Amino acid sequence: MPTLLITGANRGIGFSLLNHYNNDGWTIHACCRNPGSAAELKAVADAADARITLHQLDVEDIGTIASLKAELGDTPIDMLINMAGYLGEKALVDPGGLQHFGETDYDIMEKAYRINCMGPLRICEALVDNVATSHKKIIINVSSIVGSIGDDNFGNFYMYRPSKAALNAITHAMAINLKERGITVIPFHPGFTRSDMGGPTADIEVAESSAGIKAVLDHVTISDTGRYLTWEGGELPW
Ligand SMILES: NC(=O)c1ccc[n+]([C@@H]2O[C@H](COP(=O)([O-])OP(=O)(O)OC[C@H]3O[C@@H](n4cnc5c(N)ncnc54)[C@H](OP(=O)(O)O)[C@@H]3O)[C@@H](O)[C@H]2O)c1
Repeated sequence: MPTLLITGANRGIGFSLLNHYNNDGWTIHACCRNPGSAAELKAVADAADARITLHQLDVEDIGTIASLKAELGDTPIDMLINMAGYLGEKALVDPGGLQHFGETDYDIMEKAYRINCMGPLRICEALVDNVATSHKKIIINVSSIVGSIGDDNFGNFYMYRPSKAALNAITHAMAINLKERGITVIPFHPGFTRSDMGGPTADIEVAESSAGIKAVLDHVTISDTGRYLTWEGGELPW
């Protein structure tokens, strides 16, 4: 069976997606900041006959990325999904919190860059050989429609939007540079989803998002590398 490594595995879309791969019998490296308090994830791992290994990973923390690489050694990773993400505190939960122009908190913005684009790049650089030695060789960087400039008719999200646009630029470049190693690299929009991040008024349930993502990823090949795909199987403009 193939091997998945996923960040942000303890809740939201990441946890829901992990369950699909678990049901399919994949070997899973599940990464989260606080495995000790990830009760639901731990229960799933305990029932999976050692197919699921939990790793402590804070994507802002270079040391934990190095530790993850040391724990994995040369283990092949068929699919690496960078799911962990950060919107910023002043967001959808706050009616005035669409991160309007003039309201930018630069500490939050820096944190968004560290978690949403620098972290995924560091993880890809640390684990690229593990992906390259696998059978499927797929990297999914979970972005957002908010990272699309071509699709932006709304503005706002000054702290979050540029971090996902930067992740898109990184992912586009990786698709070019890693193609010669046979690695498929995809930026992915998971849908406006009723997770903690999306809030209760978002468009779709977490289960709907993860089922859609899984259905799309089941058919991804190297011919898709560099395409900005969505949970519905569509493609977004950059
Ligand atoms: N929900 C939406 O509408 C939506 C739309 C477009 C894109 N996305 C993207 O989809 C992905 C998943 O979002 P979600 O809706 O599932 O969000 P969520 O429910 O808020 O979950 C966020 C996940 O990221 C983890 N995380 C945050 N900072 C981290 C760090 N420094 N190190 C490691 N893990 C960290 C969280 O771990 P903790 O439990 O430790 O905080 C949690 O597992 C994100 O990349 C997000 O940007 C979401």
